[in-house]
Amino acid sequence: MALKTINPTKTNAWKKLQAHFETIEDTHIKNLFEENPNRANDMTIKWEDFYVDYSKHRLTQETLDLLLELAHEVDLKDAMNKYFGGDVINKTEGREVLHTALRNNKDAEVLVEGENVMKDVFEVKSKIEDFTSKIINGDLKTYNNQPFTDVVNIGIGGSDLGPAMVVDSLAYYKNHLKTHFVSNVDGDHVNEIIKNLNPETTLFVIVSKTFTTQETLSNANTLREWFLKHAPQDAVSKHFVAVSTNIEKVKAFGIDEANVFPMWNWVGGRFSLWSAVGLTISLAVGFDNFNKLLLGAHKMDEHFKTQDFDKNIPVITALLSVWYNNFFNAESEAVIPYSQYLNQFATYLQQGIMESNGKSIDRNGDKVNYQTGTIIWGEPGTNSQHAFFQLIHQGTKLIPAEFIGFAKSLHGNQDHQDKLMSNFFAQTEALMSGKSQKVVIDELKEQGVSEEKIKDLTPFKVFEGNKPTTTILIEKLTPESLGKLIAMYEHKIFVQGIIWNIFSYDQFGVELGKQLANTILKELKDVNVINNHDNSTQNLIKYYQQLD
Ligand code: F6P
Repeated sequence: MALKTINPTKTNAWKKLQAHFETIEDTHIKNLFEENPNRANDMTIKWEDFYVDYSKHRLTQETLDLLLELAHEVDLKDAMNKYFGGDVINKTEGREVLHTALRNNKDAEVLVEGENVMKDVFEVKSKIEDFTSKIINGDLKTYNNQPFTDVVNIGIGGSDLGPAMVVDSLAYYKNHLKTHFVSNVDGDHVNEIIKNLNPETTLFVIVSKTFTTQETLSNANTLREWFLKHAPQDAVSKHFVAVSTNIEKVKAFGIDEANVFPMWNWVGGRFSLWSAVGLTISLAVGFDNFNKLLLGAHKMDEHFKTQDFDKNIPVITALLSVWYNNFFNAESEAVIPYSQYLNQFATYLQQGIMESNGKSIDRNGDKVNYQTGTIIWGEPGTNSQHAFFQLIHQGTKLIPAEFIGFAKSLHGNQDHQDKLMSNFFAQTEALMSGKSQKVVIDELKEQGVSEEKIKDLTPFKVFEGNKPTTTILIEKLTPESLGKLIAMYEHKIFVQGIIWNIFSYDQFGVELGKQLANTILKELKDVNVINNHDNSTQNLIKYYQQLD
């Protein structure tokens, strides 16, 4: 069954939210705390090892009730049943959206065209498990009988960002294998990676759902050529494996069918790290940890599926995002993890969020007349405090931010951890409370600053505050808690897409540029090929060719 096509702006809840927005627009969050002493408790969801506090937002219980009404009016529940039930909710590509099946239990029943896919899922999982343990233990050897030392993941987009982010985030749990990620078609990327490799002991994992992606195939070819300068032809089958849905193309590349880890069309690229696309994760941290990542995600799936909306983390975080995006006209959201391990988290989320919900045509095929996908960005704290926090604190733009922190440090350096967490708590407090003119003047007086100077400086030192943040405090960074966190964002994306009445699981917007690049490539390779371009592009191409 298809998803319903309800224009959110035509719902009663939306109209009520618009009217309500006018009454709340200028309210300071500080005052909301004074009005309701229970606010922090009321607006916190405690679930497993997650503590999610969304009280530092510009909303009241009435706002929340109306947002929840909106979720009901667009029939989110019905959409969720279709999502988990394997309906073809990726209508424009005619596909189910079932990354949740990849982390489901063995005895679950998930039907695709009447067939339970769990058997296939578990077959591939055991292939990953078997291969992982043999590579880690050294049972599977190189062509010249050595244990492997390095793994190179060759992929781009969903075939790179997810595995790269998880491997980085779980660096604490890593084994002896050194992992590398090549994605960009920029030859300098692959050449820099090559500098650190020994061809004799390197395993290459080519990850491409379609096995047609220019960047991935170029890098794979370059690496194979380089490898063959050092090893005989028949060594390729021992050193190259692939993850793909396109077995024929993989075989044509010269990889043995036995070395192919299949995936399925019902898994979208940006949601695929739970599939064999996560092979490099499994190799880097071991299959048990990979499985724990999946288990965490499954727990979040269950939470999302069964929890009432008012205590449902993905639903609440998605509704908050809609509130700012569509009523306050906030254009972007920041994600600030207070963990250096999560250095790549925002980059990873950019694909998940912006490739999914960066759409302007609704599910009826009509142009939307409201805002959809948010711009997502972020960097770890405390580094980001010394980079862009100035703008969040005192700039003109409203930037709701999600602060992610882990209560326990992995290496147990308590002094550093307390310093880190004091910043984590202080920033959301500062963003909300700000600093009034009176406090600024009192402080300057105390420092003995002259009256005249105080007058000059005061406007610059005032912080309005009222900057909204959500705090996601997690006990510890483990494979399981990371799995929960990633799945939380996946479901948040889904809820937003349902409310905005768009299709979140296609990505036609990336195609035009690829098409034109192919046209231009022919011209760059052969000066006799001349195509029609606008003047600017024509001049740029000519200039490039002259420099050649
Ligand atoms: O950028 C477009 C895209 O299709 C992504 O959705 C996908 O993750 C990426 O390219 C890589 O695709 P593939 O895994 O087929 O090489």
